[in-house]
Amino acid sequence: MIELERVTHAYPDGTAGVCEVGFGLAAGERVVLLGSNGCGKSTLLKLMAGLLLPSSGQVRFRGDPVTAARLRKRDWCRRFRGEVGLVFQHPETMLFNPTVLEEIAYGPSRLGMEDPTRQAREWAERVGLAQYLEKPPYRLSGGEKQRLCLACVLACEPTVLLLDEPTASLDPRATGWLVDFLLDRKELTTLVSTQNLSLAAELGERALILGEDGRLMFDGGLRDALADTELLWRANLAHRHEHRHADGTEHRHVHVHRNWE
Ligand SMILES: Nc1ncnc2c1ncn2[C@@H]1O[C@H](COP(=O)(O)OP(=O)(O)OP(=O)(O)O)[C@@H](O)[C@H]1O
Ligand SMILES: [Mg+2]
Repeated sequence: MIELERVTHAYPDGTAGVCEVGFGLAAGERVVLLGSNGCGKSTLLKLMAGLLLPSSGQVRFRGDPVTAARLRKRDWCRRFRGEVGLVFQHPETMLFNPTVLEEIAYGPSRLGMEDPTRQAREWAERVGLAQYLEKPPYRLSGGEKQRLCLACVLACEPTVLLLDEPTASLDPRATGWLVDFLLDRKELTTLVSTQNLSLAAELGERALILGEDGRLMFDGGLRDALADTELLWRANLAHRHEHRHADGTEHRHVHVHRNWE
């Protein structure tokens, strides 16, 4: 569905976003993106959604290179935007309509889908926002905004779903709903970034880990990655923990924080 070939992105101020990243997502694959703060997860997802363009290298969607020229072609761009949905890490950056209903209906309406308003009502119901249809999005709580962003993207019925730390402010019930939803949609291709290592195992079978230099340092089985404390340590996803015992002895070891611990 999507392929990246030696994709590098540097921001205008010279900050390196990602460096020479290459991998492909096959249809129906469920992949989890891991990496420490600032390593380039959000940059990578924006490159895949065509919101940023590589400084060098290439992103291909169904074989077509995603270029500025292609994004200007109305039909191609509409198909690409309809098929590839990105839910931003910070909900505020994607909400701008006066009401929740209009916010969800916006995407389906732009894509020329039938009855965007009905579509919006259904998705508001699914994400638990049916009672807020007339409310301005900026007056929602953080978790409600995150659910609204999910509804906005899901209402467009993408085939590739890119989620940037989607559960960061969701409560356990909403998190469970999202995990179940993603499990039920076997046909969806998903790439989900998360800092939550305990949840990661529920979100996919394959892991991509970005190192602090913005390079891909692991592409393989998620369970193997989660079991490899040394790898997680190198990726800055584990930390050294100091224990002091009652008898006065101390020891240090690498520790991975999972929610159940
Ligand atoms: N608009 C921008 N202009 C300049 N530098 C940026 C911009 N956005 C991000 N960066 C830089 O690019 C690098 C990667 O940022 P990115 O947001 O992709 O990281 P991340 O892995 O998503 O981090 P986090 O876990 O904190 O969400 C960082 O060094 C960041 O400071
Ligand atoms: Mg990020």
